[in-house]
Amino acid sequence: MLRTHTCNALTVGDADNHAKVTLVGWVDTVRDLGGVRFVDLRDREGITQIVFNPERAEIHAAAHHLKDESVIQVTGTVVRRDADTINPKMSTGEIEVVAETLTVHNVCQTLPFPLEDAKADKVSEDLRLEFRYLDLRRPRNLGLVKTRALAAQTIRRSLEDEGFLEVETPMLFKSTPEGAREFLVPSRLNPGTFYALSQSPQQYKQMLMVAGVEKYYQLARCFRDEDLRADRQLEFTQVDIEMSFIEREDMYALIEKMLAAVWKKVLGIDIPTPFPRMSFQEAMDRYGVDKPDTRFGIEIADFTDLFKSSAFKVFNTVANSKDGVVRAINAKGLADITQGELTNLETVAKTLGAKGLAFIKSEKNPATGEVEWKSPILKFFSDAEKAALKEKLNIEDGDIVFFAAAPWTQACAILGRIRLEAAAYLKQRGKLSIPADKYNFLWVIEFPLMLWDEDEKRFLSAHHPFTAPVAEDVPLLDTQPEKVRGQHYDIVLNGVELGGGSIRIHNPDVQKNIFENVLKIPADIVQSRFGYMLKAFSYGAPPHGGIALGLDRLVAMLANRASIRDIIAFPKTQKGQDLMAESPAPVTAKQLKDLHITVTAEEVV
Ligand code: AMO
Ligand code: AMP
Repeated sequence: MLRTHTCNALTVGDADNHAKVTLVGWVDTVRDLGGVRFVDLRDREGITQIVFNPERAEIHAAAHHLKDESVIQVTGTVVRRDADTINPKMSTGEIEVVAETLTVHNVCQTLPFPLEDAKADKVSEDLRLEFRYLDLRRPRNLGLVKTRALAAQTIRRSLEDEGFLEVETPMLFKSTPEGAREFLVPSRLNPGTFYALSQSPQQYKQMLMVAGVEKYYQLARCFRDEDLRADRQLEFTQVDIEMSFIEREDMYALIEKMLAAVWKKVLGIDIPTPFPRMSFQEAMDRYGVDKPDTRFGIEIADFTDLFKSSAFKVFNTVANSKDGVVRAINAKGLADITQGELTNLETVAKTLGAKGLAFIKSEKNPATGEVEWKSPILKFFSDAEKAALKEKLNIEDGDIVFFAAAPWTQACAILGRIRLEAAAYLKQRGKLSIPADKYNFLWVIEFPLMLWDEDEKRFLSAHHPFTAPVAEDVPLLDTQPEKVRGQHYDIVLNGVELGGGSIRIHNPDVQKNIFENVLKIPADIVQSRFGYMLKAFSYGAPPHGGIALGLDRLVAMLANRASIRDIIAFPKTQKGQDLMAESPAPVTAKQLKDLHITVTAEEVV
């Protein structure tokens, strides 16, 4: 190599041996102190101070012109620093290298933005993504790259210790209904036909179980043409797992062990196992979502029965309607909510279909010193209703209560979101503290197999159509599909869905029945899209199940980053663009012709 040591390796021992070393890396800073020039030389591992003395006139002069982030190679002798220049914060802070030769490998142009964290963090993300190689070069961001690699390595080791085989599966798959929107890839060799990029290796991993692999894993790249968010990318990585001859408990134990190993290795933290479990119903009823953040309360309370005979028409009507519920949360201490914040909460509720966001504030009247409730709807409430609310929600001075009167699903969605927004406001005010190292892992279980979709007027799989029903519920499939529970489990961490999976169907008749009679997929489509699977299940399919964890989300949690873009080397923007490579991009007419494609949009070069 061009170096004898990394920039984080040298110690006083090397100085005492008068070690002659060669270092290579990036110019972090250049300082001129009364004739002597100091360069902080940085590589992936750390920083070493290089000294250029005036006695070596040529390289001393050259050092003067070194531009930040240029790549240089230095040979010199390790010496102890003077006592007053020792930097105890750096592992190489007790030594420096006195330069004897200097080679400049690459001169860095004026940087498009400063690389120090404090300054770079203020630069627009678009500019940083255009120069992602510079953004990544910042030690903190290289640290994230290392964290990701360490997490992946620990996951691999943990699974290999359990006897899992890593198997690669095709990315060029085919379009199948029932999943996310897919990316299509035209086939040159088969005019007019398309591959779909794999949304997940779901079907292949099940085929591997039929093939007898028994324990499969893969850090699999998945592609979904979804609207991007902080925790969603078009391409992302799953820790994809499938096992034969198991029950749900086996999967819980496997994943708990694996995650405990990762948290220990990466953060040095012992996470307690087994993880708590919560049914889907309980998660929805208490937190309004199937991925509850259980690090804080503000739980949802039900008042449907209370308002069945209420004088308040809005609540009364909903409470007496089919599926209708009247529920509320107490955002403790948020009575000082600003008008802007309140309007925002109302907007959030309305985008989820709410007609309004009724509230009650409980505040001390400064004149009388009495605690008073304020609300546009207070006049409609009877004393009994007020007493019931006060007791169940523990309403005290300084609180604000929000209501949702709506069908169950909608009320959950509304209060689930309001709960999170209110928690964020409380956090900003310092009234809710969540320690950064609190990791509330949770299994969410007992999902319904099917959920009714009002738009499509049919049942859709809560997870995916390969999920096995709970055995004793199978007779209900044809009569009351909504009552059938699925053998599905989600692993949730601090309100983030890290992963999900299920025990699968391995009986071709049950699978066919679910496709055709429950999901109402036409028989010819079932045949063309899933026929091979049904066939495979008639050739000795073992009972099997699996899971997939979003590696990007997992690493973002480990690194305490709000967006998975931060922990992906080359992420795409909100608009699905790679600003560095300038993708997606138009292609030539010849390329399109070869692919038998006609484009109606303008951008063809
Ligand atoms: P599912 O669709 O729930 O299950 O995906 C599993 C996990 O993948 C992550 N994830 C994403 N991460 C980033 N960007 C995205 N667009 C994105 N979409 C999903 C989430 C999610 O929990 N084949 C099944 C798993 C199985 O049944 O074994 C599957 O893909 O963390
Ligand atoms: P209205 O009688 O429609 O003016 O509503 C009175 C108050 O209740 C207003 O503050 C509305 O925002 C609120 N509200 C109306 N409908 C609902 C509902 N379904 N759930 C919660 N609050 C509501």
